[in-house]
Amino acid sequence: HRHVDHATPEKVQEVIAAGDFSPIIPDYEGFEAYRAAGGYEQLERLRREGDPEAVAETVLSSGLRGLGGAGFPSGRKWQFVRAEPGPRYLAVNGDEGEPGTFKDRYYLERTPHLFLEGALIAAWVIEAEKVFIYMRDEYPAVLHILREEIAALERAGIVAPGYIDLRRGAGAYICGEESAMIESIEGKRGLPRHRPPFVAQVGVFGRPTLVNNVETLYWVGRICREGPEVFGGVVKNGRRGLRSYSVSGRVAKPGVYLLPAGSTIRDVIEAAGGMAEGHEFRAWQPGGPSSGILPATLDDVPLDFDTLQPHGSFIGSAAVVVLSDKDSVREAALNMLRFFEDESCGQCTPCRVGCAKAVQLMQADRWDQGLLEELCQVMADASICGLGQAAPNPIRLAIKHFGEEL
Ligand code: NAI
Ligand code: SF4
Repeated sequence: HRHVDHATPEKVQEVIAAGDFSPIIPDYEGFEAYRAAGGYEQLERLRREGDPEAVAETVLSSGLRGLGGAGFPSGRKWQFVRAEPGPRYLAVNGDEGEPGTFKDRYYLERTPHLFLEGALIAAWVIEAEKVFIYMRDEYPAVLHILREEIAALERAGIVAPGYIDLRRGAGAYICGEESAMIESIEGKRGLPRHRPPFVAQVGVFGRPTLVNNVETLYWVGRICREGPEVFGGVVKNGRRGLRSYSVSGRVAKPGVYLLPAGSTIRDVIEAAGGMAEGHEFRAWQPGGPSSGILPATLDDVPLDFDTLQPHGSFIGSAAVVVLSDKDSVREAALNMLRFFEDESCGQCTPCRVGCAKAVQLMQADRWDQGLLEELCQVMADASICGLGQAAPNPIRLAIKHFGEEL
């Protein structure tokens, strides 16, 4: 492993030219530096004299909601799990598979201990017997960092050896769905379960399990150290809180941008240095392919949870992909459905067969919009999990906003 500063495009080019593909480990804040700056003092204070209910209330008062994409109030989920009889587990979702999402990686490659302290605080609140971290295997640098830093925590006596169990995914998108992730942790094939029961009641090995995303726990770490205002004190366009937008596509400077949750797509593009040269803003994906494609004219909506719902979309994990006049919405939507076809776990017919049929229909010279809509309805109504339920979104939104191109 080579330690270098953050992987700039120039560095990546150097690596490719040298033919050396071992992971580049970025310069991150390690245990000693984090500890010296007051790290883990909150955790130790809470373990000594804290009130778990009060911590859950603080997190609720910050307005923090699940940042994996679903936006469920974090403090409330903790309360659900706490109300169930022990033993309980914490399972961290670090699978980050939604195309265009790279915010968890961004934080883990810079300040892994804010996340780790947040995770240990959440584990303390629900009195977890054990913490599983399910990490995307396509992030070799993150895996390296977590291995080193968890070992440092064990050496410092902050966690017992083996208390944090780092697990690797194996490239299946569906294993980011929380119940499929739990199946995978149990050593089984990653097939989503029916709900109810929710994983808060029946999770890892049948025990009550708190599932939180990496970034959610990063903010728990910060909220406990800096107070709820650090997250909840930001208000814009009537919305409260912050969002880490992963921005890619036709912008001048792709990257992760931390902006108020009330930001519009125009604000996000501006933060990313504006449109790339020679490109005119035409369309955008708000939060991964599951959220579909929206037109550039829809540019005054705050990109927070719930606000895109009236438009048939959602912000999800805030994976914003910007498309221009040089892009084909038809091709983009087809690409999204091909992705779902590949990643469908195959457990239920509406999704397994529906995605494949949709791809066929979308390859025709002209889309049969009536037939596609019928198919979308069945998939949305009858699929077991979010993959099949959301797969129609790119089709429906393309028909609604870009009908003339289809
Ligand atoms: P969901 O809304 O069904 O559930 C959200 C969370 O709340 C889950 O942990 C669920 O167990 C819990 N929950 C809901 N109602 C509950 C109740 N009554 N009692 C106890 N717990 C309850 O959404 P889901 O399917 O977990 O997530 C969908 C989102 O995930 C989408 O917005 C999508 O964008 C995002 N996503 C993100 C990815 C990423 O890479 N970050 C990858 C794929 C999807
Ligand atoms: Fe599997 Fe798709 Fe059914 Fe989800 S909707 S359980 S991914 S086949």
